[in-house]
Amino acid sequence: MTSYPLEPTRAEMLAMSEAGARMLADFVEGLPGAPSVDLDGLDDLLPALLAPPDEKPRDFDVLLGRLQAAAAASVETAGPSYLAYIPGGGLFASALGEFLARGHNRYTGVAGLAPGLVAMEQGVMRWLCGEFQLPTAATGIATTGGSIATLTALVAAREHMLGETFSDAALYVTAHTHRCVAKAARVAGLPASAVRVVPTTDDLRMDPAEAARMIAADRAAGRRPAVVVATAGTTDTGTIDDLEALADLAAAERLWFHVDGAYGGFFHLTERGRRRLAGIERADSIVLDPHKALFLPYGTGVLLVRDHNLLQAAFAGDANYLQDLGSDGDLPDYNSLTPELTREARGPRLWLPLHLHGVAAFRDALDEKLDLAIEVHTALADDPRIEVGDAPDLTVVTFRLRGRPEAEQARWLERINAAGRVFLSSTRIGGEYTLRLCVLAHRTHADRIHEAIDLIRGCVPAG
Ligand SMILES: Cc1ncc(COP(=O)(O)O)c(C=O)c1O
Repeated sequence: MTSYPLEPTRAEMLAMSEAGARMLADFVEGLPGAPSVDLDGLDDLLPALLAPPDEKPRDFDVLLGRLQAAAAASVETAGPSYLAYIPGGGLFASALGEFLARGHNRYTGVAGLAPGLVAMEQGVMRWLCGEFQLPTAATGIATTGGSIATLTALVAAREHMLGETFSDAALYVTAHTHRCVAKAARVAGLPASAVRVVPTTDDLRMDPAEAARMIAADRAAGRRPAVVVATAGTTDTGTIDDLEALADLAAAERLWFHVDGAYGGFFHLTERGRRRLAGIERADSIVLDPHKALFLPYGTGVLLVRDHNLLQAAFAGDANYLQDLGSDGDLPDYNSLTPELTREARGPRLWLPLHLHGVAAFRDALDEKLDLAIEVHTALADDPRIEVGDAPDLTVVTFRLRGRPEAEQARWLERINAAGRVFLSSTRIGGEYTLRLCVLAHRTHADRIHEAIDLIRGCVPAG
């Protein structure tokens, strides 16, 4: 029988899969004891990793070992120690769904080629549209992350609000809006001057009165205000803008209301989160990042748009070579809703963990993180050497050493992280160097948070 080297036998596939699954199970099992950062030995590893492939085949086990070493040489973004930036963890069931989806290699740019897998993604999107109380005309699509979801939303908003010329456009953000918004505006062809930074109130929320004043001034100066961008959980401090007030403003001014819920949106699944996110249901577009607060592995964002037709108007188009592909009635052709044509099946990575674990498991995990963030805030606020930010809206706690210079704050962060049990990051608030701790990885529980609190206090320099 002819054998083709690119087509492993059943026995070979099973052996490779089992070795890979074992490696992953060992990895996940070892996460509680893993160092928060392990970049030692990287210099020895890099030459082999950067080497081009040989003409001849190599041994699978050797290659698997190399992959394992490459993955190990990292900041431990999957473990309980990761409290920096915006964690997520990476659910095993999602990784498995992804492996299976990739193995089947289905095409989901048009519904007709893999309607089952498109339906799987749509089922999750429709559930999310319902969760956010969007009307039946709403639609959702899985993207590769929040930045691409934001770009997709802004192109739809630009098309609908501004038409073909938009050098006079204005969209409203704050200093704490994620950088992906300005980046998306630029990629969407808007000039840098279109991004208008609205002052915040003392509690770091967009000031609706200032926004109204700027919109009026911009109109008077001949600009065309188009989009209000609210953030449902800023990266810096986890702060939720006043979504009701900004929805009122957008409605009164007839602007597109975009909500960046990449970090905070999924807290809507909890009772506290739903209360704090009131007004999100009035958005024209919502960005969510399942690779943050739904704990998926990196690579999955979501865009929800209130009116399916507006997304379609921005991205749909015909091509002769697609003439054989009729649309599949109820299921969307995703290529008409985004800049992408070819895309993999993104449903299984969402669908499998949600159905396998059930939604309550996600609500409970998010509730647990809300409680843990309050615990951190309360414990640090009790220490007179530490100055804490406002009580967290979600799960980011900010703090700095009281009355100490910036260099000492940075050294404090280094000392906390050097123990290898937690990994925190910093930002600037009002220009001041500030440490931040974000509880969001699904594997972070009370034991690690207690360790983090002890380390933060224990590393305060004598002064
Ligand atoms: C509030 C917020 N918006 C948008 C993004 C961008 O999302 P992504 O990194 O998935 O592109 C992030 C990422 O951290 C974020 O925190």
